[in-house]
Amino acid sequence: MRRVYTSELIPGMITAEDIYHYSSNQLILPKGLVLTGQSITRLNDYSIISIRVEDDTVSIPNASTNDNYVGETYFKQIRSSQEFTKFKKKFQEEISEVKDHFNDVVRKNAPIDVDNLMEKSLALINETHSSVDLLDMIHNMRDFDDATYVHSLNVGLLCHLFAKWLRMSDEEANLAMMCGLLHDIGKLMVPDAILKKPGRLTPDEYEQVKEHPTNGYIVFLHQNIDIHIKNSALMHHERCDGSGYPMQLKSEQIDPFAKMVAIADVYDAMTSVRPYRPALCPFKVISVFEEEGLQRYDPKYILVFLEHIVNTYIGNTVRLSDGRIGKIVYINKEALSLPTVQIGEKFVDLAKERNLTIEEIL
Ligand SMILES: [Fe+2]
Ligand SMILES: [Fe+2]
Repeated sequence: MRRVYTSELIPGMITAEDIYHYSSNQLILPKGLVLTGQSITRLNDYSIISIRVEDDTVSIPNASTNDNYVGETYFKQIRSSQEFTKFKKKFQEEISEVKDHFNDVVRKNAPIDVDNLMEKSLALINETHSSVDLLDMIHNMRDFDDATYVHSLNVGLLCHLFAKWLRMSDEEANLAMMCGLLHDIGKLMVPDAILKKPGRLTPDEYEQVKEHPTNGYIVFLHQNIDIHIKNSALMHHERCDGSGYPMQLKSEQIDPFAKMVAIADVYDAMTSVRPYRPALCPFKVISVFEEEGLQRYDPKYILVFLEHIVNTYIGNTVRLSDGRIGKIVYINKEALSLPTVQIGEKFVDLAKERNLTIEEIL
């Protein structure tokens, strides 16, 4: 018997325990069940992070015996590459520097050294060969304790990539990166007990978290830095339809850099593991963006971002919710989370087969 993360479960594995929902105590899956794509989706839907499975597995046609089956997941292969090891080392070095510097700025009112932070972040970008590489690296920089700093650096790197997708100049891309890197500095003033709390926050705790944009702006108020960096700290939780905070601004009132940070911020939060749920596959993230309403974001930015994310995964092998494995061959512009997948000789258009979803990138 062994414990396996839900994201690493494969159809054919057998549950070694009854699995209950942690708060309602509802039975989700019984002991002794042979897992299928559908039952794994069910675990994801209930935010079950890991389960115990038997050592033996059952082979399921179309899944583990499929010719396309790659054995190791895509992300696991990346993690074992040499490039990843090098990137991770540099990333770790920068995290400790960012951590010290952010603390000096917030607690000792030290001046922000934007040039140094920019130089170090660009060095990280130069470690990768393409935007696909950089996205893959970002997705895998998750096993650190310093969640706020890792998130900040990820959002900074994502913003640089995003600016390039928007065909912005190098200077603007660097500025976008700094807006992303510094957006959550106000979180350093939120007590750790709240930031690291597993489970839901109380309304009072949530109110304290919601003060971080204003607090970040106050930290930056007298710093000699670009106004877009200050505005991004203040406005990255504003939404174009006026549903955000702290000021319920409308689209035309929100700084364009803050609009970019908002998108990269939500994307990074959803693709990382949280105490109350596992990481979502990028296609699930896109469907969440589509369901929650694209009108919350500036169409000029959100469509470019999502299209590029999806394009990154063309040609990748994926597992569908019914356990079948195929290759993404065609992106559907009207429904970005529902591309066409080739399974053997067959082409499955997920926009037409609405009962199927992409569950995992392999
Ligand atoms: Fe934030
Ligand atoms: Fe954030």
